[in-house]
Amino acid sequence: MSNPEPLLAARDLTKAHGRTEALRGASVQLRSGEILAVTGASGSGKSTLLHCLAGIVRPDGGSVSYGGERVDRLPERRLSELRRTEFGVVFQFGQLIPELTALDNVALPLMLGGAGRKEARERAGEWLERFGARAQGELRPGELSGGQAQRASLARALVTGPRVVFADEPTGALDSLASEQVMSALAHTARATGTSVLLITHDAQVAAYADREVRLSDGAVAPVGVTA
Ligand SMILES: Nc1ncnc2c1ncn2[C@@H]1O[C@H](COP(=O)(O)OP(=O)(O)OP(=O)(O)O)[C@@H](O)[C@H]1O
Ligand SMILES: [Mg+2]
Repeated sequence: MSNPEPLLAARDLTKAHGRTEALRGASVQLRSGEILAVTGASGSGKSTLLHCLAGIVRPDGGSVSYGGERVDRLPERRLSELRRTEFGVVFQFGQLIPELTALDNVALPLMLGGAGRKEARERAGEWLERFGARAQGELRPGELSGGQAQRASLARALVTGPRVVFADEPTGALDSLASEQVMSALAHTARATGTSVLLITHDAQVAAYADREVRLSDGAVAPVGVTA
């Protein structure tokens, strides 16, 4: 079988947080339209890897390539443009804007992209609906449960139609039935639009939605094989 050029490729990434070497030569590739699960013990470097791939953190060494671009070398301006237009990120700890309602949090990326408030809020409502959080649209993040905040974060990451979604434990606060609903909505959207997804999870049931799984161990990646 041919091996198509990956959409996103990290090679030999290293990254230290103070004296902790979070990444020690991690390499991973994400193909177009692929859902890739990244698993590994707590502290193995999964979030650090995601932040480097999404251009949020610069690695100390190695490279991150997206299309023809070296993400690790891009100027801040181009990075924020890339994050706004092509990437959607679901952070491990939500990071919704506390002053805005759930609906306005989801609408914000559209408005930053130039959409009017009314249209942005309509589309935001549809995405909240898809992830089962429409009823919480007028609540602020401080009034949401952990699982409701995760649903809103997923809606916010997907609302602009990104090419790559980076999701850091997006179902960590959900029970298994709710995880199934949220993952099914995420996988369905990704399949329907050809969106690539890098999905960090501890949950084998969630990893089963992926085409492939890689495991991080002490800051480096080991392939696990096909999970489906
Ligand atoms: N901002 C930071 N400052 C200092 N150390 C950090 C920081 N972020 C991460 N680390 C350290 O780097 C290592 C990797 O952290 P990372 O958050 O990438 O792990 P993880 O695999 O996502 O863990 P978890 O499953 O618990 O979320 C850990 O030892 C952690 O303590
Ligand atoms: Mg983490």
